[in-house]
Amino acid sequence: MIFTVAIDGPAAAGKGTISRAVAARFGFAHLDTGLLYRAVGAKVAAGAEPEAAARALLPVDLQAEGLRSLEAGQAASRVAALPAVRAALVDFQRRFARRDGGAVLDGRDIGTVICPEAEVKLYVTASAEVRAHRRWMELGGDAAQVLAEVRERDARDMGRADAPLRPAEEAMVIDTSDLSIDDAVARAVALVAARLESR
Ligand code: CDP
Repeated sequence: MIFTVAIDGPAAAGKGTISRAVAARFGFAHLDTGLLYRAVGAKVAAGAEPEAAARALLPVDLQAEGLRSLEAGQAASRVAALPAVRAALVDFQRRFARRDGGAVLDGRDIGTVICPEAEVKLYVTASAEVRAHRRWMELGGDAAQVLAEVRERDARDMGRADAPLRPAEEAMVIDTSDLSIDDAVARAVALVAARLESR
């Protein structure tokens, strides 16, 4: 069965939690595409050339230490604005999306660029303040700086020319500002279940 769930949205909106829960619930494979850009960003920070780093990316690179840090997020969003880096990562993501058995991909451009044919497209969002607070709970640090970084990354991801962050036309929006994790997951699961039933 080919069935893709595309989950896009800004930093710390809850995409990761929702994606993992949906994948577990339906037995689908899950790809956190942000990790691809974080791994490329880390290699570039260590001196690699961006496109070469993207082309040479290996599964083991996704397990590098420190990829979840704020700095790694900023490095990711800088390399993610480079069309050559994005192009180098497209085929792998497309194959993953259409693999047999169902797939959930979360990122910024899954429903718009990587898999416009996805059976379910969700856009998971929340206010910048709520998202910054979640990131701060997760990583600590200076709360005002975490908010500034969230805003900076939003602006870069939404403002770039290639594959900017925006909801796909037919995406269903889940605003998690005032939703518990359980409620947000339940909403996503219900949408996927309804689409599976209608096939
Ligand atoms: O976890 P969080 O939402 O903070 O970030 P992420 O999903 O790990 O993504 C890190 C950065 O990679 C984003 O800020 C984007 O610039 C970039 N990215 C992208 O351009 N396209 C994707 N499909 C996924 C991530």
